[in-house]
Amino acid sequence: MRRLVVFFCLVIVEFLLCSAQEKQHGTVLFGDPCERDVNCIEHAYCRIQRICQCEQYYAPNPERTICLATAGLSCVDDFTCGTMSNAVCRQNVCTCKDAFTLDINNSSNCISSKLLCRFSFDIRITDELMKKICERLENSVGPSKEGDACQKRDDCEEAMERAICIDNKCRCITGLRFVNETGKCIQARGRYNSCTKDYECFLDDGTPNVLQCKNGECVCRDNDPRCSKG
Ligand SMILES: *[C@@H]1O[C@H](CO)[C@@H](O)[C@H](O)[C@H]1NC(C)=O
Ligand SMILES: *[C@@H]1O[C@H](CO)[C@@H](O)[C@H](O)[C@H]1NC(C)=O
Ligand SMILES: *[C@@H]1O[C@H](CO)[C@@H](O)[C@H](O)[C@H]1NC(C)=O
Repeated sequence: MRRLVVFFCLVIVEFLLCSAQEKQHGTVLFGDPCERDVNCIEHAYCRIQRICQCEQYYAPNPERTICLATAGLSCVDDFTCGTMSNAVCRQNVCTCKDAFTLDINNSSNCISSKLLCRFSFDIRITDELMKKICERLENSVGPSKEGDACQKRDDCEEAMERAICIDNKCRCITGLRFVNETGKCIQARGRYNSCTKDYECFLDDGTPNVLQCKNGECVCRDNDPRCSKG
């Protein structure tokens, strides 16, 4: 019985410690490299242990020093929505005050509806738009092409598939080549290999744009002097 009590005490202590830890935050700015969530500024987390990103329903200010609340954030009182302008907590969601409408370019900013109409904006802001803004933020971080900065060996795989992180830069696996057209590392095809697209065809020495895909086969571009040597 005593053992059981001790066990429960430990569980409670652990729970308190953990919830206290969750509130901790650091000083690493939005978009800067991090290792743990606690490194990042308030209302930010360390996305895939790599880069500080605002939590859902928070967006960075232009200086990247604060993650501001945005419309749609869950709240219990107006304080939670305080980093928005002209917003209140209504039905447990941060919303623009009466007679204010969400700025179409900034979901932390509620502007006077009168002012808004003067600029003849489309005032029907939907969740779909919010989602698009968030998606754009998501996509703006993380390596997307060969040579982009990375930290861990598998950081480049997500976007480029067969790529690894070498000396903090994304590189295609040996023998593969990065193509702009698809944003991925592909197996290059030499002269007289079968192909479907020009960008698949590549000379062994790496000279670009010498070959083309013609009738399903990699061949020299017409009259290209660099090709006839081979
Ligand atoms: C909002 O963004 C659009 C497109 O980027 C721009 O044309 C428009 O002027 C912006 N409006 C405001 C109020 O900044
Ligand atoms: C969005 O609006 C908030 C509140 O007015 C402001 O503090 C912030 O700087 C704005 N963000 C951008 C990117 O302009
Ligand atoms: C690929 O795209 C980058 C940037 O968009 C450009 O600088 C580079 O020249 C392109 N490479 C080829 C082979 O088209």
